[in-house]
Amino acid sequence: MPLPYNERTCYCGDVSAQHASQTVILAGWVHTRRDHGGVIFINLRDRAGVVQLKFDSTSHPAAFKEAEKLRSEDCIVIRGDVLRRPDDMVNPNMKTGTIEISVHEVEILSPSETPPFEISDKVEANEEVRLRYRFLDLRRPPLQNALITRHRITKAIRDYFDRENFIEIETPFLTKSTPEGARDFLVPSRVQRGNFYALPQSPQLFKQLLMMSGFDRYVQIVRCFRDEDLRADRQPEFTQLDIEMSFVKPADIMHVCEGFLAHVMQVIHGVEISRPFPRMTYQDALREYGIDRPDTRYDLKLKDVTDSARKMEFKVFTSAVEQGGVVRAIRVPGGSDMSRKETDALADDLRGIGAGGLPLVKVVAGDGDQPTFQTGIAKFCSPETTAELIAATSAEVGDILFFAADSESKVCKYLSWLREVIAKRRGLIPKGAWNFLWIVDFPMFEYNADDGRYYAVHHPFTAPRDEDVPLLDSDPYKCRANAYDVVLNGIELGGGSIRIHRCEVQQKVFKLLELSPEEQQLKFGFLLEALKYGPPPHGGIAFGLDRVAMLLSGLDNIRDTIAFPKTTSAQCLMTEAPSSVATAQLDELGLKLAAQPGD
Ligand code: AMO
Repeated sequence: MPLPYNERTCYCGDVSAQHASQTVILAGWVHTRRDHGGVIFINLRDRAGVVQLKFDSTSHPAAFKEAEKLRSEDCIVIRGDVLRRPDDMVNPNMKTGTIEISVHEVEILSPSETPPFEISDKVEANEEVRLRYRFLDLRRPPLQNALITRHRITKAIRDYFDRENFIEIETPFLTKSTPEGARDFLVPSRVQRGNFYALPQSPQLFKQLLMMSGFDRYVQIVRCFRDEDLRADRQPEFTQLDIEMSFVKPADIMHVCEGFLAHVMQVIHGVEISRPFPRMTYQDALREYGIDRPDTRYDLKLKDVTDSARKMEFKVFTSAVEQGGVVRAIRVPGGSDMSRKETDALADDLRGIGAGGLPLVKVVAGDGDQPTFQTGIAKFCSPETTAELIAATSAEVGDILFFAADSESKVCKYLSWLREVIAKRRGLIPKGAWNFLWIVDFPMFEYNADDGRYYAVHHPFTAPRDEDVPLLDSDPYKCRANAYDVVLNGIELGGGSIRIHRCEVQQKVFKLLELSPEEQQLKFGFLLEALKYGPPPHGGIAFGLDRVAMLLSGLDNIRDTIAFPKTTSAQCLMTEAPSSVATAQLDELGLKLAAQPGD
């Protein structure tokens, strides 16, 4: 008689001492197998965890014979008795460690070939192989847990927003480009030959239009698509928690966001996070941390030493200052124990991101009370500049000071990178800290020297701060945006703004972004039209759900929170997408591939 796998008693990982002396039916995958002569132990795994099966040749010879054939990842069903383990056999590291199952019947539902890597907690195979066999990688308990946690996060979010009277509304995927700073993924139209849809970089304009339709409080958990350079926290398709509200000021939106994050933290970690979150201006963030998403769990703040540096006879510093640049320093307490090899390796890595090198000094005891500098650029520091640099950085004996000299944006880039690397390498990041932070007062516009024009820092629908509206006419590029980002432990979780709800202001901003009236009409005619019919004041925000899931699961790559992610070259190694298509399909779309160099 085949075993009724549809009558499973519970999940393998949920069997407990409460089931002792009961007969259970369990199904799952062979995780590990240990042969002890007349007894075989198998750990059986399903999504809830593993349980130990015992096959005894004396008491159940038929089941034992079958167990001899079992191999890793075979899918099986068993019937057996739950036995309490003797005290000295209890495994405290296993959820089901107080019991084991004495199996009397087993059936192989489907055998497995030898998997290309071991399905275990630890990752030994390289990521390429794991992504090719993603269906097997997803059997590994850490990935199962990450996806289960993600489900719980999504559920908690939906519960919260439902309670807060938000309405979830779906918006189209086949749409028109909305600028969010990346390239669009385009979809050719068969019916409208020669025309293309763009996959949404975000539902930005649709959610604004929903406010104009009167929905008042909108939420959506939605896939977004951006063709951009990928990193550990970026995927070409990712999920946003997208929010929009009418008749609100930034404080109202922030309040809702803090509420949902507090709720999710409570559900997932049982942690009460303190609210309201601290706020920091964009200017302060750049000055003190060199980045607009500072990790405030550790100090290592940047200090400006331009005035002292300009007096030094060190060409790297003086020429940077002469060209209008800045010199800033990071003090690493106790850092003078860093070896030449370590600091050379840091300098090499910094060269890799464009820096000229890594000027440094070690702080040592001098004559009398006054510390002095040694090694690196110490020879360029007069007693006067030494004293100034020590005062500016609050350096003490035993510290090391690192410097960067260049344009302000490059100095910020180098030192914010260095700050993070040093904090990680020297173990300065406290465990279990959840540093939520709002960044406010972003500039509206950003100049791009490469093509000599201004771009919107957030997106072109972001309103200026109320008090900066007059600047749109007098000194527009000084305008601050009514925008806010939320940062957790150095990662940008979300960003949003109050939107422009007045047609003439929107047109003015488009003009400042060098969009001609024709282009405005072509790209955003529907928005300008909608703005004529009594749009409510509104604003919103979007969170990167994959990033939220990554941080809350303690992972450092969003790929691990996505069931079927792409590689850094935007490929799915399992399905081999993207792939070529038949000429007939291209013909239907009216497309012809241009010859590639080398074809
Ligand atoms: P923004 O472009 O800042 O704003 O995106 C919001 C959040 O989405 C996440 N995110 C990503 N996550 C993974 N992979 C990516 N490629 C990626 N790009 C962005 C980040 C980011 O903070 N429409 C506006 C929101 C608004 O104004 O309401 C928007 O999309 O966590």
